[in-house]
Amino acid sequence: MKLRMSSPELSDADREAVLEVVSTPNLSMGPKIAAFEQAFCDLTGLKHAIGVNSGTAGLHLCIRASGIGPGDLVVTTPFSFVASTNVILFEKAIPVFVDIDPLTGNIDPDLLEKAVEDLFRGGDAARKWLPRKVPAFNEGRIGSVKALLPVDVFGQPADYDRIKKVSRHYDLTVIEDSCEALGGEYKGKPTGTFGDYGVFAFYPNKQITTGEGGLIVTDDDEAADLMRALRNQGRAVGDTWLQHTHLGYNYRMDEMSAALGLSQIGRLEQLLAHRARVADWYAQHLAGIEEVTPPQLVPNTTRVSWFVYVIRVSPRIDRDRFAEVLIEKGVPVRPYFAPIHLQPYVMEMFGTQAGDFPITEDLGNRSLALPFSGAMTEEEVVEVCRCIAEALIAAQKSE
Ligand SMILES: Cc1ncc(COP(=O)(O)O)c(C=O)c1O
Repeated sequence: MKLRMSSPELSDADREAVLEVVSTPNLSMGPKIAAFEQAFCDLTGLKHAIGVNSGTAGLHLCIRASGIGPGDLVVTTPFSFVASTNVILFEKAIPVFVDIDPLTGNIDPDLLEKAVEDLFRGGDAARKWLPRKVPAFNEGRIGSVKALLPVDVFGQPADYDRIKKVSRHYDLTVIEDSCEALGGEYKGKPTGTFGDYGVFAFYPNKQITTGEGGLIVTDDDEAADLMRALRNQGRAVGDTWLQHTHLGYNYRMDEMSAALGLSQIGRLEQLLAHRARVADWYAQHLAGIEEVTPPQLVPNTTRVSWFVYVIRVSPRIDRDRFAEVLIEKGVPVRPYFAPIHLQPYVMEMFGTQAGDFPITEDLGNRSLALPFSGAMTEEEVVEVCRCIAEALIAAQKSE
């Protein structure tokens, strides 16, 4: 049995959709991207969808559209994939990290509220949230709070009622990083629709894939125009091929990717159901195994969109040894996430250190992503769980 960390669920129709494009001359900026974007407007009920070539590109365009620049503060989570922080750094803005809810791994709304309140108060109150080190990369400028960037971790939405309460009170932009949560719901409403902007991603381990790809949804007409221009080398509406109103990027999604995404989004429900079935099998077969906690869902999550299946081991288990033994047994696993504030370049820039965000670090030290995809069979899940039970014995910490 060859287990994989993840694998896309591709159908014959998906493959045919890509082949159909390559038999036409329209390989970029054609009808498939427009249809793919329309599918997201239909799904979210928002006016604009802008397809791009990665989730990171999508988040970066949201930062640009929000007018965030050198020294501006963006409140975000250190328990995420690095891209959610990197896009802030691309514009020489400063991420203000706030620790997480230990149950969900999402940004803690109480701490978020406190951080923003203190940052607006200024002085000593603000200082404790700010980086230890004044970053050299923006000449030491520390501005005011401009935006909140919550992440829907592992497919479970962050607490948007609380986040929106803060953003409304302080007039802040909200960028929802929903790159891991396509199809999830918070109190019956789809992810991606809570912020001023929502961003999805379509790498092959995601709920739907385009190979590489991402997409922004928004109701803001002006921002949508700007983001469309920025993804296309800065060409605004009315510009010719060699006219560039803005400093832009090539963040375009090609037609093959859009065709694959369009085919996949058409069976989103089926793809999500397959993933939910695998998650159920895991929950069932892990149930008797002590020392392991399965993912925790909260009542506000009216629908989780299973992206990864991340377990936590008890403090009595040496997580790294546990992972090693599983890998030796042919079960690929990955610590997930590694805290962003402890990435070498972030420590170097801002002087962050171990101990700064204890809940994030505790989760980072005890969590492990198991092999997961909608294509997994129950037999494979049983095999993973059998190996887990054995590996736990080998990975007990000595008293
Ligand atoms: C939370 C989060 N944000 C952003 C991204 C970036 O997406 P991409 O890899 O498509 O650039 C990812 C990708 O895994 C992610 O998990």
